[in-house]
Amino acid sequence: MKKPFVSGKIVLCCFVLLLVTGIESTWFDGAIYNYLPAASISFCSRKLNISSQVGCSSKLTGSAGILWMANNSDDVTHIISETTSRDVMLVLDFHLFINVSLMRSVRLSPIVTGLLVFSPLPDFDTPPFSESSGCPNSESSFYGPQHECNVTPMWNPAGSEYSSIDWPFPVALVQDPNDVIKNDLLKCFSHYNIQPKDDTRCTVEINNPMAAVRSTTVCNRRQYLMSLQPFKVGT
Ligand SMILES: *[C@@H]1O[C@H](CO)[C@@H](O)[C@H](O)[C@H]1NC(C)=O
Ligand SMILES: *[C@@H]1O[C@H](CO)[C@@H](O)[C@H](O)[C@H]1NC(C)=O
Ligand SMILES: *[C@@H]1O[C@H](CO)[C@@H](O)[C@H](O)[C@H]1NC(C)=O
Repeated sequence: MKKPFVSGKIVLCCFVLLLVTGIESTWFDGAIYNYLPAASISFCSRKLNISSQVGCSSKLTGSAGILWMANNSDDVTHIISETTSRDVMLVLDFHLFINVSLMRSVRLSPIVTGLLVFSPLPDFDTPPFSESSGCPNSESSFYGPQHECNVTPMWNPAGSEYSSIDWPFPVALVQDPNDVIKNDLLKCFSHYNIQPKDDTRCTVEINNPMAAVRSTTVCNRRQYLMSLQPFKVGT
């Protein structure tokens, strides 16, 4: 069952994505690790907007969940409404990821710990999709959002606003043109998670913690940490 070990070092500083298979009794007891090839993965990252943070990040120690693969929107709805399981790492195709209403319910689900999305193949006919909003210039428009955005046709009809959302879990995009990774995950998922015979589960961990500074306090604290000066509580 042990698969060849592919390097877990990912190009971007300290980002590691690893697939954990065959976990016994506790999550990190008797685990077999397989690292997904770094060159195939890109991560959604943490960004700042004017008042807050948007984008995604894993937890500091990585975000792990039991692998659940969805083939269609009904699968997704079923998985996230399944109250018996928790810590779900949802794996799905791009056409489901760009379903805005579906992703809204996924973000609202307290059991989802991460999202792994397979990129569409270059010749695959995906519906138009844009991660910007339907009216990208509304905030900077001289005319104001009302005037600027209430137009037909819309400025950006394919806009999903994904890039201005604060995603509650990490999202990673997987390039997998020959379905190699997908078939590995599917094998592990079918074997351990669909009808489990014991406590062994196939889980996936995304590890790309990122933080964006959102206040002067945090910014100052970071400076203290970075310069190794003692941090004074309350400043
Ligand atoms: C999705 O489809 C594959 C076959 O293509 C199947 O093996 C798998 O069980 C399906 N997943 C679910 C959740 O039904
Ligand atoms: C998007 O997801 C919803 C469920 O949230 C589903 O009813 C709808 O059919 C999906 N749309 C597409 C285009 O798949
Ligand atoms: C920044 O993002 C938050 C969500 O994280 C949102 O509530 C807020 O309105 C956004 N601010 C601006 C100026 O876009």
